Amino acid sequence: MFTVSDYSVAYGQSEVIHNLNFEVKENEIIAILGRNGMGKTTLMKSLIGMIPSKGGSLTLGEKELVDMKSFDRVKSGVAFVPQGRMIFSTMTVKENIETGLTTVKDKKIPENLYELFPVLKEMKGRRGGNLSGGQQQQLAIARALASKPNLLLLDEPTEGIQPSIIRDMARTLKRIRDEIGLSIIVSEQVLSFALDIADRIFVIEKGEIVREENRESVDEQKIAAYLSV
Ligand SMILES: Nc1ncnc2c1ncn2[C@@H]1O[C@H](COP(=O)(O)OP(=O)(O)OP(=O)(O)O)[C@@H](O)[C@H]1O
Ligand SMILES: [Mg+2]
Repeated sequence: MFTVSDYSVAYGQSEVIHNLNFEVKENEIIAILGRNGMGKTTLMKSLIGMIPSKGGSLTLGEKELVDMKSFDRVKSGVAFVPQGRMIFSTMTVKENIETGLTTVKDKKIPENLYELFPVLKEMKGRRGGNLSGGQQQQLAIARALASKPNLLLLDEPTEGIQPSIIRDMARTLKRIRDEIGLSIIVSEQVLSFALDIADRIFVIEKGEIVREENRESVDEQKIAAYLSV
């Protein structure tokens, strides 16, 4: 349902993502694992249109996304949870989620978002900046889901989050996939989290996918070796 073909991204003369090719199926969760500086954020930001691509194509269903601005990509069904969450700290929880409604007709927060994240309902009126890291991550995911995506992109969602909360997050993301029905691409450095949620795991090194594994047959030690410094 989402196809990345011969896809490259550069900062000026410096190419950081080289000729990527992969597909994401409907309701599939893909984890892209890689160490610091390997190109995860560059790829994610370019998929949502925050960084221009250098070449290649991105098709979602029948639509070509490559020449679209971020707003139109979101409207076409892609949503993005950035690294570091980037919630609006002086706005309330409710207002933060509402910023995700700009591309959809219904301007009311869907009740199922509060069912997925009950803590956000409790904290509706609280400022985003006063939430814990784990709660802010839930808020960032809820904000992304407000645009009713078919494809959810998450850039290192576990960064700075404690292990027990990471397990909850994995459970919630799988629930979102099963109940709402969407595909997910998540970039990560935490192997256990990727093993927990992904159907397929890619390893990215210096902007290239150097390994691809199915969850059922994954060689954990080989993948771990790529992640150790
Ligand atoms: N704005 C920029 N201009 C030039 N080069 C950049 C820019 N942002 C990132 N890079 C370079 O691109 C490469 C990939 O960086 P990127 O941030 O995509 O990595 P990452 O895998 O997300 O790392 P991390 O795990 O630390 O978040 C690095 O070599 C980095 O120095
Ligand atoms: Mg990054």
